[in-house]
Parts: sequence; C-alpha cells; structure tokens
Amino acid sequence: MARTRRPLIAGNWKMNGLGADALALAKGVADGLGKAAWNDRDLLVCPPATLVMAVAQAVRGSAVLVGGQDCHAKPSGAHTGDIAAEMLRDSGAAFVIVGHSERRTDHGETDAAVRAKAEAAWRAGLVPIVCIGETLAEREAGRTFAVLAGQIKGSVPAGATAAKLVVAYEPVWAIGTGKTPTVAEVANAHAHIRKELGGVTAEAPQVRLLYGGSVKGDNAAELLAAGDVDGALVGGASLKADEFLAIAKAVQRG
Ligand code: PGA
Repeated sequence: MARTRRPLIAGNWKMNGLGADALALAKGVADGLGKAAWNDRDLLVCPPATLVMAVAQAVRGSAVLVGGQDCHAKPSGAHTGDIAAEMLRDSGAAFVIVGHSERRTDHGETDAAVRAKAEAAWRAGLVPIVCIGETLAEREAGRTFAVLAGQIKGSVPAGATAAKLVVAYEPVWAIGTGKTPTVAEVANAHAHIRKELGGVTAEAPQVRLLYGGSVKGDNAAELLAAGDVDGALVGGASLKADEFLAIAKAVQRG
C-alpha cells in the first residue's frame, strides 16, 4: 500500500553550529538531497536561532526545509533572550520544535507552556513539532502510555490538523544515550500516540509521527520501518551531512 503520510526526517542541531561549518553542513544536506534518487520525503534542518536566517539562505533553491528549536508564546514584547515564532518565520523557518525534553527539563516547560508555543507557531504560520516522551523512571514504573496520553492532552492544542501538526515521540532515556527502544516498543508507543491523538483531532490518522532518540545511519532502517513511524527527529547524527542523508535514505519507498 502506498504511504499516505509523507515521511519527514528532521535534524535537531541543538546548541551546535558556528558560522562557516554550520553553513557547510546545511549546504552538504542540500547538495545531497539534490543528488538523491528520491523526492518522496521531506528533509528539515533545525539550526540554533542565530543561524536560522543564514541556513535558510544557504539552502534556498533546494527542497531542504528549515525550522527553529523553540519559540516564545507571544509575538513580541519584553521577553529578553526569547524568540517569537513570527521571528523564526521571518527568518525563513517553516517549522518549529516545541516541548523538546531538554526544554522541558532545562527550562521547566509544562504541557500548558508547550501548548501555548504550538498555538504561537500556528499564529505565525509555522508547523510545530510537538515532542513528548517518558523518562526511564516512568517507563520502569509502567507509566509510559499514561505519560504519553497526558502529554498529548496537555501539549497539543485543539484545532490540530494533519497539515498543521507533527508529533515526535522521544523517550527521554534514548536521547543522546545510544540506547533505543525495540522496534516493537516504538511501534506500540506510536500506535498508542495515534490513538490518543484521535481524541484531539479527527485527522489523527494523517498526522506525521516521528521517532527520536539515538537514531543513526545504522539503526534508521529498522526504526523507520516500525508501524506508525513517519520519520525521525535526529540530534547528534544530524550534525554530519552524510549520516543525516543516510538516515533520510533509509526511509522505505512508498
Ligand atoms: P539524539 O537526539 O539523536 O542525539 O539522541 C534526538 C533529539 O533530542 O531530538
């Protein structure tokens, strides 16, 4: 059966990237995509805010999409150091990651705050990638599904449609650790997420669900083939163009 959800491979550069090297990385991804024998999937890079505009310019004319890593809920105002979704859009972004576990942990972001950021993304014309995922303690306590359900209810705003929302399942214990859930665990979690999303939007069957957490060139094929997985949110391995492209290439053709 042909895929109904277009795969999305998103690179989260996190707090990495300086000038020339970062632009070379972005160009490397764009060049690689230009030479690729496939055009049935989306590639997205999310550089730090300082580089969004320059990266957007560097990949202009290619199919590579650009996103931010976070946004403030308000469009402007006295919020020193924060970035509005409108500013990301103005810089050339089409997406923004919201509610990444590092934001939830480092900055105490609650589900309500994440939801407000997702609404801000819509207001600015961006697609939010809403991140959810359980900690190791929650998993070991058998609470994974309850945690995911709570995060979906709390973080995904009403009015979500498949065109306006991406959800990333990122088990906190798998991020940057080299550990991943089994393929069956990923498939089960994604099926559960899609079911819970059904309580928020009638378009849940079409919403793209990404898996994130230690995705690499050599494990991407099996993780991406898991049921209900429509792509990946890639951290460390997105900092090398070749490896990021290898992950994108691992998506099975529809
Ligand atoms: P990782 O990060 O690929 O380095 O584990 C994923 C993420 O945090 O989005």
